[in-house]
Amino acid sequence: MTEVHVYPPSEEFVKLANVSGMDAYRKLYREAAEDPDAFWGALAKEHLHWHQPFEQVCDWQPPFAQWFVGGKINACYNCVDRHVLAGHGEKVALLFEGEPGDHRAITYAETLASVSRFANGLLALGLKQGDRAIVYMPMIPEAVFAMLACARLGITHSVVFGGFSAEALKARIQDLGAKLVITADGGWRRGKEIKLKPAVDEALLECPTVENVIVCERTKGDVTMLHGRDHWWHTIEAGQSEHCPAVPLDSEHPLFVLYTSGTTGKPKGILHSTAGYLLQCTKTVNWVFDLKPNDVYWCTADIGWVTGHSYIVYGPMSMGATQVIYEGAPDTPNFDRWWQIVAKYRVTIFYTSPTAIRALIRQGDHWPNGHDLSSLRLLGSVGEPINPAAWEWYHKTIGKSLCPIVDTWWQTETGSILIAPMPGAVPLKPGSGTLPMPGVIAEVVDLKGNPVADNHEGYLVINRPWPSMVRNIWGDPERFHDQYWSKLPGRYFTGDAARRDADGYFWVLGRVDDVLNVSGHRLSTMEVESALVHHPAVAEAAVVGKPHEITGQAVCCFVTLKKGDYDQEALGKELRQWVGHEIGAFARPEEIRFTDALPKTRSGKIMRRLLRELVTNNTVAGDVTTLEDLSILSTLAAQQDDEA
Ligand code: PRX
Repeated sequence: MTEVHVYPPSEEFVKLANVSGMDAYRKLYREAAEDPDAFWGALAKEHLHWHQPFEQVCDWQPPFAQWFVGGKINACYNCVDRHVLAGHGEKVALLFEGEPGDHRAITYAETLASVSRFANGLLALGLKQGDRAIVYMPMIPEAVFAMLACARLGITHSVVFGGFSAEALKARIQDLGAKLVITADGGWRRGKEIKLKPAVDEALLECPTVENVIVCERTKGDVTMLHGRDHWWHTIEAGQSEHCPAVPLDSEHPLFVLYTSGTTGKPKGILHSTAGYLLQCTKTVNWVFDLKPNDVYWCTADIGWVTGHSYIVYGPMSMGATQVIYEGAPDTPNFDRWWQIVAKYRVTIFYTSPTAIRALIRQGDHWPNGHDLSSLRLLGSVGEPINPAAWEWYHKTIGKSLCPIVDTWWQTETGSILIAPMPGAVPLKPGSGTLPMPGVIAEVVDLKGNPVADNHEGYLVINRPWPSMVRNIWGDPERFHDQYWSKLPGRYFTGDAARRDADGYFWVLGRVDDVLNVSGHRLSTMEVESALVHHPAVAEAAVVGKPHEITGQAVCCFVTLKKGDYDQEALGKELRQWVGHEIGAFARPEEIRFTDALPKTRSGKIMRRLLRELVTNNTVAGDVTTLEDLSILSTLAAQQDDEA
């Protein structure tokens, strides 16, 4: 690691930064470590609007935490109303760019009016605090309004990424017991209409709890509306008042549930509550993105993922940011669409994923070089480890060697960024998330919980509760305990491997469990396996991640078939489609390999570790003493040689 190039912040950046210099960072870190209650309590009072003050900062009954106990607050009020009341109603909140080229600039005052009208429409439908709503929408301003309107009324929302299939949507609606689905006719992607309403119709055949569906008109494509159940967004808000008081809610009121992949076939509903989540999202926008009133911020995530929740809706809007939201694909109509948008809106802060960066590198420098990117002053990365080569390209070609890159490590469960540089303080090392945020006590340990030596690989754990932490798994407290808190009691087990270097910098290496990270999206091997075994031809399936130049990992499936005659090429294609249908197009496997049997232990467990090794190294050197039938491995390896 001695060869790592270190990039200290420039003097100009330090001068203007929200946190200037290492001493300022260290002071914040020390204060939070020494007296977390005083630290978070003071920030909560300073940065959030309270309808009623809290009495206790943190009540920690492992593994359950409550933050800002006794307080009443509303996330929507904090993200919208307070800015309008402070005289910033005319400030632009959203700069929306549709894929076909349509655009809208929406101020905070207009956001307040739209959200309030829509919230009144929800009240008129009989929805109330404690109900649950699914949001299944394209990246349009109404998706943001839908989330905020729910938050305003105390309706817990669960956003399902528009790329998920009807099957996946159904499972989430059922698990949540949702009463309402908010969707759209469709959205635009790569010049095509991606329909959403038909998936809702298919899902709702088996979702008796849903009473109403609201459909926003975006593409004006054909939709079937079910009388009595389905309503157009514009009729719901028509004639509604622009005044709708935000409901004062308990600090711990469930703001949202976001489903994410775990180590079983069933996605987990990650539950986040209101005040602590909002506070840490707000503060990390200030610390990590160094947001100033005049910045134009752009996070390219979809609101269907946690990044869209924390760093499009709740964090930036609570800070009163002006931000770009873009509906479509980065390559439509050409590979310079993003850079065109950066130049058009004079974007200053740009936050994206390593997969996107790698995909754009491949297309050549002439795309970014054809645009004026001089407005940029800070770049961010999230979702997966960023390889130093991609980091260097991002820094040089996009940031013109002037913009710090904040590599932000966090998870759906952590709610907000836990490890990342404060860009005006912490010198950067390409590929490292650098240092923890104030209040975050992170450690790299062995399975007994003992810290490992510098530069040695171990498990990344967080030793103390933090305000934006996951509160529970929806309807499954046992799984919540087992998954995160049972391995090392009282400490949060992230599921990531990491090492810490002699400077205290964290290097996150990837997952240690059966979770894949494909293009920065989490996918469980079990989820894909159970989709595959639903297919009538499949007897058994084992799924592993294979290193991939662009997407980080790719889904590779080993499949055994039931007796019969198959055209393997056609079946391979069909199975890829099948997984797309069961989960969503983004989960479609890169590779399907047919085999006569799978390597198993004597007790019948599939040895995925060996398959992983096989697809990574083209050979297996690991311990195979528990393997039932060694001949299987040589067959699989021979197949691999043939293919190579
Ligand atoms: O393995 C880590 C990886 O993504 C996982 C979390 O995925 P998800 O809950 O979908 O949230 C993604 C957006 C926050 C982590 O367990 N990961 C995320 N950010 C980084 C990362 N790995 C390395 N470096 C990062 N900056």
